[in-house]
Amino acid sequence: MDPNQTSIQTDTPRQRLAVALDLPDAEQALALVDRLDNTCQWFKVGMELYYAAGNRIVHQLRDRGFNVFLDLKLHDIPNTVAGAVRSVTQAGASLLTIHALGGAAMMQAAAEAATRPGSPRLLAVTVLTSMDSTQLTGIGISTTPADQVLRLAKLSQSCGITGMVCSAEEVGTLRAELHPSTLLVIPGIRPTGADTQDQKRTATPAQAIAHGASMLVVGRPITQAHDPAAAARAILTEIEQAPKTTA
Ligand code: C5P
Repeated sequence: MDPNQTSIQTDTPRQRLAVALDLPDAEQALALVDRLDNTCQWFKVGMELYYAAGNRIVHQLRDRGFNVFLDLKLHDIPNTVAGAVRSVTQAGASLLTIHALGGAAMMQAAAEAATRPGSPRLLAVTVLTSMDSTQLTGIGISTTPADQVLRLAKLSQSCGITGMVCSAEEVGTLRAELHPSTLLVIPGIRPTGADTQDQKRTATPAQAIAHGASMLVVGRPITQAHDPAAAARAILTEIEQAPKTTA
């Protein structure tokens, strides 16, 4: 990993859970953060919130002592993505996503742009957890999600990307096939009995951790819960009690 990139600790359950703040503005996002009452350490800012609130929300979360995962899923020509990585670096996020489907040249340009001091660690999104085989076929990809994830993860690694986003269904294979220090970040997390909504490749927090996840991303099961802090605490307990993995 580039020494200039922010190092990511995944020793405690709190360090392994990112809450997806998929909310329309900073006011609602910060109100949710307040309701969580310091239960969680990481917040994921995705397109919905970032397009509304910009770098200011990243600064506001950091000023409150939280880590920020900027999920912008960059996917454009190499020059444009490299520029976006440099612009976003100024916001102070610790993690930033790019789309592996952008290809090797794009990922290499992003990795090169993320060597500046204070750069976020890059995560390559492989196959969205909302996609299954049928949806992949619909965009002309005839392999299974598992094969496509592995292919894109290996390509990302060869481009100098040291973290990937995949589903819990693939994380065990990636943990075995990739460098042991690879950060494997898993969305599509649903506690037992929870509604899967638009997600297709889902797993419980315990399953994802047991299969080798470094970090989990959880949105609606926490943000739409009657008591978000209680929902987050239950997931943290599940992470604590699941078999331990490295990285
Ligand atoms: O509400 P839910 O737990 O489904 O939210 C999952 C979050 O993870 C969303 O913010 C979504 O954008 C993000 N994500 C995902 N699948 C990926 C990458 C990111 O669901 N492959």
